[in-house]
Amino acid sequence: MLTKEQNDRLTQTNKGTPCGELMRRYWQPVALVSEIPPDSRTPVPVTILGEELVVFRNAEGKLGCLELHCLHRSADLSYGFVDACGLRCLYHGWAYDIEGRCTDQPGLTSETFKNSIRAVAYPCIEVGGVVFAYMGPGDPPVLPRYGFGDVPEGYYVARKVYNDCNYLQGVDGEVDPHHVAFLHGQPGTDLFDADLSPTMTVESVSTGIRLTTVRKLPDGKEYVRHSNFIMPHIGSFTSDQYMTDGFSMHWHVPITDEAHWKYLIYFQRSAPLELPDHFEREVDEFNMLRRNRSNRYLQDRGQDGGVSRSGMGRYFQAHDAYATESQGPIQDRTREHLTAFDVAITRMRRCLNDAMDAVASGQDPQHVLRPPSDGTIPDLITDSAVVPAMA
Ligand code: FES
Ligand SMILES: [Fe+2]
Repeated sequence: MLTKEQNDRLTQTNKGTPCGELMRRYWQPVALVSEIPPDSRTPVPVTILGEELVVFRNAEGKLGCLELHCLHRSADLSYGFVDACGLRCLYHGWAYDIEGRCTDQPGLTSETFKNSIRAVAYPCIEVGGVVFAYMGPGDPPVLPRYGFGDVPEGYYVARKVYNDCNYLQGVDGEVDPHHVAFLHGQPGTDLFDADLSPTMTVESVSTGIRLTTVRKLPDGKEYVRHSNFIMPHIGSFTSDQYMTDGFSMHWHVPITDEAHWKYLIYFQRSAPLELPDHFEREVDEFNMLRRNRSNRYLQDRGQDGGVSRSGMGRYFQAHDAYATESQGPIQDRTREHLTAFDVAITRMRRCLNDAMDAVASGQDPQHVLRPPSDGTIPDLITDSAVVPAMA
């Protein structure tokens, strides 16, 4: 249980808030490359951490991320177009380069005035199907090498789904392995369902916390999983059904305090990755879940002959959306009652609070990497295996 002040501190991410300043110390996913592929010159409006932005490619195909509203009279730049001068506003034609410099003002001749105009601009990089922007002060950190950027195209898949709630509800779910069997379970058919009371240990690692979850199987063996909370809002875990190596990552990127994008990044090292059809089918062209709160997640308690406990189909993202969105736009954690099963949630929140303190005192927070680091993370272990029971 948190006080209202503690809950506010962890859930508010607009510029100037403690958690907003923390989030801005990390590269943030701002778009999928599929939304703005290399040959696209169509700007994409996005809202991240409460800031309205536009992501675009200039005439050379280089990515830019600017504040959304033109510095002339605030028209929305995402309606504009790209030409040799950069991103040009549709209202009166002011143009901006990817650094935010105003490069043209049709009909105006003062170079001094033009040079005084500077839009907010964030550096961008694209890795593993995702466009990342750095929205913080100073030099951007090194983007950690989780693995999805080190495999060939076709070996990774990047997607996103809209979640109509605060990001922290999503992160709470990432460090809560106990819900997997119950919420996502298909009774009697999977390893998770074999043991509804797994043991869990939590340890501190450079990225955040590592969870080791052990489930007892009917044949006496054990199903051991290592999953992680990675600062500041990421979960990593294996998806044994879909990949033999590599792992899955969920990034809970705040849009506003009451909504977030769940970026889903999957990769496999040994072979091209193929995901089941329902991953596509359950999401529309705007990255919205077809099962959502407005249609009660199309819950059908009799579906699959009762195989699925949730009655919400087989796509875990729909189940998670029900769980987290039904907690409210921002969960009132003054009313929660955590148990021993929720110990990782408490540890994760402590990581965030400690990191906010570090930022406030002028230090880099946990898991911000600087040169000479090349981004590799030796202590990130995300795996799973069925093993003989420990004596
Ligand atoms: S509002 Fe953009 S050029 Fe006038
Ligand atoms: Fe889940």
